[in-house]
Amino acid sequence: MNIDKKYPSVAEMEQVAYRRLPQFMRDYLFGALGGNVSRQKNRDDLNAVELMPRYLSDGRAPEIRTTLFGRTYDAPFGVSPVGLSGLIWANAERILAAAAKTHNIPYTLSTVATAKLEDIRSLAGEHAWYQLYTPKEPEVVKHLLGRCEKVGYDTLLLTVDVPYETRREQDIRNGVSVPPAFNATTLWQMVTHPNWALRMLFAGVPEFQNVKPYFALGNSKNIGKSITASTHFMRERMGGHILPPRFAMIRDLWKGKLLVKGVMDPDEAKQYMALGADGLVVSNHGGRQLDAAPSTVKVLPKIRAAVGPNVPLIVDSGVRNGLDIARMLALGADFVMMGRPFLFAVAALDKQGGEHVMKILKAELRCAMGQIGCSSLEDLPKFLA
Ligand SMILES: Cc1cc2nc3c(=O)[nH]c(=O)nc-3n(C[C@H](O)[C@H](O)[C@H](O)COP(=O)(O)O)c2cc1C
Repeated sequence: MNIDKKYPSVAEMEQVAYRRLPQFMRDYLFGALGGNVSRQKNRDDLNAVELMPRYLSDGRAPEIRTTLFGRTYDAPFGVSPVGLSGLIWANAERILAAAAKTHNIPYTLSTVATAKLEDIRSLAGEHAWYQLYTPKEPEVVKHLLGRCEKVGYDTLLLTVDVPYETRREQDIRNGVSVPPAFNATTLWQMVTHPNWALRMLFAGVPEFQNVKPYFALGNSKNIGKSITASTHFMRERMGGHILPPRFAMIRDLWKGKLLVKGVMDPDEAKQYMALGADGLVVSNHGGRQLDAAPSTVKVLPKIRAAVGPNVPLIVDSGVRNGLDIARMLALGADFVMMGRPFLFAVAALDKQGGEHVMKILKAELRCAMGQIGCSSLEDLPKFLA
């Protein structure tokens, strides 16, 4: 099969992924919450960003390499953390981490990944970043970050936009959890999606590999019989607001680069920097946390204006192609990330998906820049129409 011809953009892979995933996983990956209003705003506002083509300005080939925190990447984009990736598609974390290394872009492993942080670091090398959902017990945070440091992670994304229980209606209905809690409906969905089910069977039952060692600590003696250790851990011993004292504790423990993920408010952007962050990820979690959240397109220019030109700003939420990447850079971002598109690609094309989608995104970005007559990423803001 000629995948270049059959899948020239994320959109084709998205359609195939939709068909190949059992509905409960489709709901989890594609869905957001409420009326999916915020998710849609991300797309609508991106589509409305216009770039002005200039045909007399610059005939040089577009250069898309960029340097972030002293490391040069082949392109100004990377993979956002997606929890339970290995339940969406068997071995998704490994596939994407390896592809990111090949394409010289960063891959971020979620705290609630189903692959071990140690394995992903050895697979992706310095291209592996780690995302932290913060355990409540300081000694658990310390241990987890110590493991990251020990194997060589140097970039941590501290996610702050899950301060309270999230109600994603479809996931509640489907009982999405780890290990998966199957019922008659989800079992039927699996049987009718053998591509997904067989791969999952061979890969083994997905588990929260990175936080599993902590299930047995502390209060877990009180786990009731009706819920699993992982559900108890996630509900009772993870998360909550990251107020300044907790932030300071993490800043103190983490010697590498610390990026705050989920920043939406320009004033808070400044506050996080004052608290010691090295950079910010402007994100509304792909519209998955608050259905009234504005799009990142709307807040990004305000955040850039608030923090000034020198603060590293990464953005995600709604980006689906190279043109969108150019749009986000034009609006003031230094770097762009995506979540769902990479999982669409792996669900559609399995092992080939990671590398294929990264190749396409690079080609699309070059093409967008070539069309407007812009040869350097730094110049993109001059092309806002
Ligand atoms: C299925 C799914 C799971 C996610 N899990 C996490 C997570 O574990 N940690 C986190 O910080 N963000 C998580 N996110 C948010 C992504 O990191 C990212 O912000 C979002 O996907 C960007 O929007 P996009 O999917 O439109 O690119 C998740 C997103 C999706 C779609």
